[in-house]
Amino acid sequence: MPTVGDARMWAAEELRRVEVESPILTADLLLAFLLDYDRVRVLTSIKDILPDEIWSKFQALVHRRASGEPLQYLTGTREFYGLDFRVTPEVLIPRPETELLAEKAIDLMKAWPPPGPIFVDVGTGSGCIAVTVARHVPAAVGWVLDISPRALEIAGANARRHGVEGRVHMVQADLLSCFLPVPCFDLILCNPPYIALDDCDSLPSVVRDFEPHQALFGGRSGLEIYERLIPEAAPRLVSGGYILLELGSGQVSEVSRLVEISGIQVETVMDDLQGIPRCLVGRKSAGVQNGQNSHHRGRSTFRPD
Ligand SMILES: C[S@@+](CC[C@H](N)C(=O)[O-])C[C@H]1O[C@@H](n2cnc3c(N)ncnc32)[C@H](O)[C@@H]1O
Repeated sequence: MPTVGDARMWAAEELRRVEVESPILTADLLLAFLLDYDRVRVLTSIKDILPDEIWSKFQALVHRRASGEPLQYLTGTREFYGLDFRVTPEVLIPRPETELLAEKAIDLMKAWPPPGPIFVDVGTGSGCIAVTVARHVPAAVGWVLDISPRALEIAGANARRHGVEGRVHMVQADLLSCFLPVPCFDLILCNPPYIALDDCDSLPSVVRDFEPHQALFGGRSGLEIYERLIPEAAPRLVSGGYILLELGSGQVSEVSRLVEISGIQVETVMDDLQGIPRCLVGRKSAGVQNGQNSHHRGRSTFRPD
């Protein structure tokens, strides 16, 4: 029977052979997952004998990773903004650049006057954005929607895991059509599918072959969800309310134009760590508030059909 150290070296070699990125780290994370250790404990246990059952499971996972499956789907978790999220192949694996949008939303929401903001997270996937903001802003209540019922199940599990299930209401819907077109949200958050179908062939296979296409592709141009969402969002945003949109590379001009046409001002666009304009913040100009400012606002405008 191999030791933890033998298994680690075997896996690193298997993964290196097929050019998987960070083979040793991957081996460590898979061992940590199967042994229920943290990585430090894996490194301090290299002389321990690996039980037969774990060794068989480990070999199977290493072979799946070597065939291209994302590590996060193998371990079923991904960290986002310091929280662990359950992920399955039915949801997009949360990306670090999306933390930019979550962080901006948290900042805006923390400054919201009582009784706190009402937000909607459109295309919630794993729920990483909605759960993170609800966890950091106890006064916030939100609607969490996705067209995929399986994604909503995962988002619900993540909301329960982080204790915010009472403040995020799940709804299966096609964008914002299930809400009346009246001002009902203080913030509309969305990381839409924004890859152009024409770019499908150039995507890394770890993305194209394993992540849900409904979460990746925004039609032929990549802009189709923005083109539908922004006109739906404008009438549903209160005066002084915000829309936060994640952007794909090269989309800032066109999405800014769509936002401005809808009557929302582009307040700022934040770059990610690679210098790519990644998060657009738009604000509907402050004026007479024609929605009621209460936590029932979102609910009273929900049309279940
Ligand atoms: C890019 S993923 C974002 C997931 C998650 N918010 C995140 O940032 O990791 C886009 C999500 O939008 C959902 N979606 C796609 N089209 C939709 C539509 N028409 N209405 C609602 N949700 C949609 C997909 O199922 C997917 O979960």
